[in-house]
Amino acid sequence: YEYDLLVVGSANADLVIGVERRPDAGETVLGSDLVVHPGGKGANQAVAAARLGARTALLARVGDDAHGRLLLDSQRAAGVDTAGVLVGGAPTGVALITVDPSGDNSIVVSPGANGRLTPDDVRAAGSLLHAAKVVSTQLEIPLETVVEVVRSLAPDSRLVLNPSPPQPLPDEVLAACDPLILNEHEAKVILGEAYAGEKPEDWARLLLAKGPRSVVVTLGGEGALVASSEGVSRIPAVKVRAVDTTGAGDSFTAALAWRLGLGESLSDAAAYAARVGAATATRKGAQVSFPTAQEVAAL
Ligand code: RIB
Ligand code: NA
Repeated sequence: YEYDLLVVGSANADLVIGVERRPDAGETVLGSDLVVHPGGKGANQAVAAARLGARTALLARVGDDAHGRLLLDSQRAAGVDTAGVLVGGAPTGVALITVDPSGDNSIVVSPGANGRLTPDDVRAAGSLLHAAKVVSTQLEIPLETVVEVVRSLAPDSRLVLNPSPPQPLPDEVLAACDPLILNEHEAKVILGEAYAGEKPEDWARLLLAKGPRSVVVTLGGEGALVASSEGVSRIPAVKVRAVDTTGAGDSFTAALAWRLGLGESLSDAAAYAARVGAATATRKGAQVSFPTAQEVAAL
């Protein structure tokens, strides 16, 4: 394989403001100076993997505008192959992000060009798909595009899906995931009426019953949980002082996808990914906060 990881997904300009607290409906609050960072769940995963040392490519769509150039520059600086990044059709996606003093964020995304990444674009990138050992995607691009990714996979490549932002998924997509990586909120949406039980172990088992070959439930400060036909086990949290958790889920997913491709077990890959996610939360921004392999080793 030419690539350890191909990410098919979104690229957004993140417009970030720090706030003491978020406004209620009809309310105005003052925040910090505006910072514009490269982001988007797909673009974030690609940069995170490349910074760790993975041979990485990105299939995405940005606008022919300054935000699109910011995103392409960030990918190239990290060493991501951007031949699959299409330009034009709509403005680059934008994420309006507020970060509170605890480091938690709230995000509104305008998909823009991400919404114009079509199944035809995936078919046209067939050679890229077949050149990657692991393919990772999320739901900031159209669901029909994700379905086409599933249909275009090489027989022995592996699909990793983070269903964020969540929506119900067709069985065809669920069955291809190895693993499905999600948090509690996303698990509730994916399970829909099947949602039951109090413990994450319960959700993980219910999710597995929906068809994925493996499931990883991320639990924020409580670590994560991995589930497969071999059973369900806990991955302890890596304790850090969180400054800005933006991108932590994306770097977790990218690290996990890469390590699985190297042949690591699901538990070992998730334990490594937990360190990468924790390191990400200690710095502001998404792509600009991702650690190198040396920084992960030093954590
Ligand atoms: O997961 C974090 C990302 O979500 C941000 O970079 C933002 O662009 C949104 O896509
Ligand atoms: Na961060």
